[in-house]
Amino acid sequence: MNIKAIISEMTLEEKLAQMSQFNANCLDTTASGEVTGPASELNLTASEVKATGSVLNFTGALEMIRIQEKFLENYSIPLLFMQDVIHGYRTIYPIPLGMAASFDTDLVKRCSTMAAKEASASGVHVTFTPMVDIVRDARWGRCMESAGEDTYLGCVMARAQVEGFQGDFKKPYNIPACVKHFAAYGAAVAGRDYNAVEIGEQPLFEYYMPPYKAAVDAGVEMVMTSFNTTNGIPSSANKWLVDEILRKEWGFDKLIISDYNAIGEMQMHGYSSGEKQSAMEALSAGTDIEMMSSTFLKSIPALIDEGKITMEQVDRAVERILRLKEKLGLFKNPYKNADAKKAERLYLSKPHKALCKEAAEKAAVLLKNDGVLPLNKDKKPSLLIAGPYADMGMIGFWSCCGREDEAKGVYTVFRKALGARKVAFAKGADGALNAEPDKAMILEAKRRARNKDAVILCLGEASGMSGEGNSRANIEPSEAQLELLKAVKSVNDKVIVVIYSGRPLALTKVEKYASAIIEMWQPGTMGAEALSSLVFGEANFEGRLPQSFPRHVGQCPIYYNRMNTGRPKLDDGDFTKMYISQYLDVENTPLYPFGYGLSYTSFSVSPITLSKSALCENEGDFITASVTVKNTGKVRGVANIQLYIRDLVASVVRPVKELKAFKKLSLMPGEEKTVDFKIEKDMLAFYNRELKRVCEKGDFMLFIGQDSDTANSAKFSLV
Ligand code: BGC
Repeated sequence: MNIKAIISEMTLEEKLAQMSQFNANCLDTTASGEVTGPASELNLTASEVKATGSVLNFTGALEMIRIQEKFLENYSIPLLFMQDVIHGYRTIYPIPLGMAASFDTDLVKRCSTMAAKEASASGVHVTFTPMVDIVRDARWGRCMESAGEDTYLGCVMARAQVEGFQGDFKKPYNIPACVKHFAAYGAAVAGRDYNAVEIGEQPLFEYYMPPYKAAVDAGVEMVMTSFNTTNGIPSSANKWLVDEILRKEWGFDKLIISDYNAIGEMQMHGYSSGEKQSAMEALSAGTDIEMMSSTFLKSIPALIDEGKITMEQVDRAVERILRLKEKLGLFKNPYKNADAKKAERLYLSKPHKALCKEAAEKAAVLLKNDGVLPLNKDKKPSLLIAGPYADMGMIGFWSCCGREDEAKGVYTVFRKALGARKVAFAKGADGALNAEPDKAMILEAKRRARNKDAVILCLGEASGMSGEGNSRANIEPSEAQLELLKAVKSVNDKVIVVIYSGRPLALTKVEKYASAIIEMWQPGTMGAEALSSLVFGEANFEGRLPQSFPRHVGQCPIYYNRMNTGRPKLDDGDFTKMYISQYLDVENTPLYPFGYGLSYTSFSVSPITLSKSALCENEGDFITASVTVKNTGKVRGVANIQLYIRDLVASVVRPVKELKAFKKLSLMPGEEKTVDFKIEKDMLAFYNRELKRVCEKGDFMLFIGQDSDTANSAKFSLV
């Protein structure tokens, strides 16, 4: 197909329409052509909105086919349909933060492919996934969408999602992914969404940029620029980041789209004096599609007349858009894989639900267990299922067309497992963000908790308390929840707390009263079934934290790959020393560190053996670091062996530990296996002051253990 020839015959208006994206419902104008509803806010004429090149947010194959059919009556280039398919389309798997906790790239890939199948049958051509923003501040609501605080984990999760959605583009259900939000959106000051990002260039490159790069290297078809300013420049206008780094240095010549009205918001930031400047800046930086604002449509004709923008710039953007449409085969079949009946067959189908259950089990993290878990199902224990989230589906923010009522609540599932007579229910607390204790509800829960073999208390936060725009200054469970926990604990010693959350919560007070704590995240369609398998020991826990859980919100931002400082504090509980880097009232350490998670079995990890103690700078050289891992408990379990490195002296100070590899291995009781890691030069590289990735000779510490707290170490050098 001769794309260039098509472009040469397009009018400027037609080109700019391709470069604009609106919500699908903006295309619905009245019969008289009058612009109403959402479109009217865009201040555009009906024909300007209707001629658009792509849409977002629609409800499925039927709507997609209807819109596309109507559109093609008047226009010849088919629309592209985009959607936020973040953790499933209709069958919902855990939020991405939970998926990262699985440390299982194969699982993430399989789930992404499952989502692609449902989405493509529902008419979706592009998903706005993966979100790979590194986040170190649990106050930020969009922790839930990311892979957490670690750059390495962020990279492998980014790659797995791109591969899962896009495949090799040979199957009808392979859909382009769009990595977002470029760049550093997760570093919003004080964890407040849309806030400015103020960051040195070295840490920007070292910690925040690699996951976007990993997605680009994995062949991602699109990049979305972020809402935030980085050091004063809005991303969509950031020529340095978008043009110099992303386009030129990384060689990304595919589609770039702005975030929702992000170009429009340049004025509100105080960066642009009007729509004309916004359009000029965004196009010059490299944006091809403007989402939900109309500065391109309105201002580019004048900018061309004034010689501030060239037709070549416009044509380049249009070419990228048409190339994607061609790649998807839309010129031949504008409906692609859309098929409402096929979609219905896939939604909540047996294999999709089974995969979601597997994912929810593998994402769950056992944070504490004094021995109360697992419960013995054969003994038919009597249970109280309580808490504000005990009888509802917990599918999480950004759950696309997923429905809460299609996910069972914990009470329903446990009653089925043990029989109605064995299982009582009490809500015990309201689920609102700042809910106050309710005496009557607490009394009822207390009464029902007495004489039960155990209580399962479902606390945390509702789906809508994390996600976009949902930052929190207080990340503890509400007073109502904490009082309920205390009350129930006063009459029953076995309280198993289940936490639902889209971020790390501060669980210090919960820890004090709970016999066991299970972090379920927002687990999706099969969350309650997965919880039941875990509680009864039919499945074992293998999830590990992808983000540190603080003791107190005042520690945020908190992350394991911190600097040592010149006056480090020892973790010895001694607060009497003066003039060291500490808080007077809280330890520096998190309550639960990155990489942490328990199992129903235990593992021993041997001291590290190295194949040699010096790594040569020469290409191809490596050291093999080995440990023997043994299952020292009574049941089968999956160990997650993590390798961290510290560069002891460098021209830019390096963190106390950085994750460089991990391996999961399944072991039967008593079984042991040797795990080998290849230590290569690239693992020692970092960005120096000139922003060049370099390796510096010298000594390194290597840590291999079960979480980021591990002290199991060996020393080697680069010579
Ligand atoms: C979000 C993006 C999302 C877009 C389209 C924005 O508000 O920041 O992540 O892809 O909306 O729904």
